[in-house]
This record gives sequence, structure tokens and C-alpha cells, in this order.
Amino acid sequence: DLSPIKEGQAITAMWRGKPIFIRNRTKEEIERAIADNNAALVDNSARNMALPESDPATDANRTKAGHENFLILIGICTHLGCIPKGQAIGDSKGDFGGWFCPCHGSHYDTAGRIRKGPAPRNLEVPPYTFVSDTKIKIG
Ligand code: FES
Repeated sequence: DLSPIKEGQAITAMWRGKPIFIRNRTKEEIERAIADNNAALVDNSARNMALPESDPATDANRTKAGHENFLILIGICTHLGCIPKGQAIGDSKGDFGGWFCPCHGSHYDTAGRIRKGPAPRNLEVPPYTFVSDTKIKIG
């Protein structure tokens, strides 16, 4: 149920034993993610389990049309599997405003794409569908 997540807030759910990050992004966070669609990305794969691996890592390919404010990710660093910071208020969100993995210093942007540090891949987008305007089903 996404209805309690106010703009700028995030919650962590569990799916198949994995943390799922759900962030209701601010307008600024979405604009920043879109502006960097053409940046020199470390990993240019959408890493969206619902799309082919060859699809590019645009913000649109990592969200759902009509619900672009919600970014839904598997919250496991693609380096060695730590859980990145950035979910709680007051957490470091790293140099790109998304998530920061303190284990070895990986910085993810507001689309969950790896931008700096040793992690090789973007945070994975799990398969999910909106079953109503405010509810999703993961898996
Ligand atoms: Fe995240 Fe190494 S596990 S940077």
C-alpha cells in the first residue's frame, strides 16, 4: 500500500527475503534522474526484471508510466550485497541524491543507477504491477 508514503519519503518492504526500496520521489529528484538519462552511466542497462537487459537505463525504463514518482528497487548493493543508506530521514544519499552504500562507497542516483564507486550494476527493479492507483503487487 503506497498511500502512506508522502512525497520525499521512502519505505522498505520485503519480497522473497530481499529488501525492497520504495521511494515517492520529489519533483526535483525525478527531474534530476531524467536530466542524467544521457550522462556517462557506469551501467546502461535498465536492470528492470520486466524489460530486456538491453533496454537502456532511462528513468522511464526504471519506473511505470503514470506513476513516475514511485521508484521501486531491490535494496541490495550490486557490489557485495550490503544494504545501501538513503531510506531513512537523515541518511546519507550519496553524491547523486539517491542511495549510498557505506561498505565500500558506492553512490546511486535518484533513479537507482550506479554513478560512482565499485558497484558494477544499477540497483535492480523487481517485477511489479499497479493493481490500483495506490497499491502495487510485487512479483
Ligand atoms: Fe556496496 Fe561494496 S557492498 S559498495
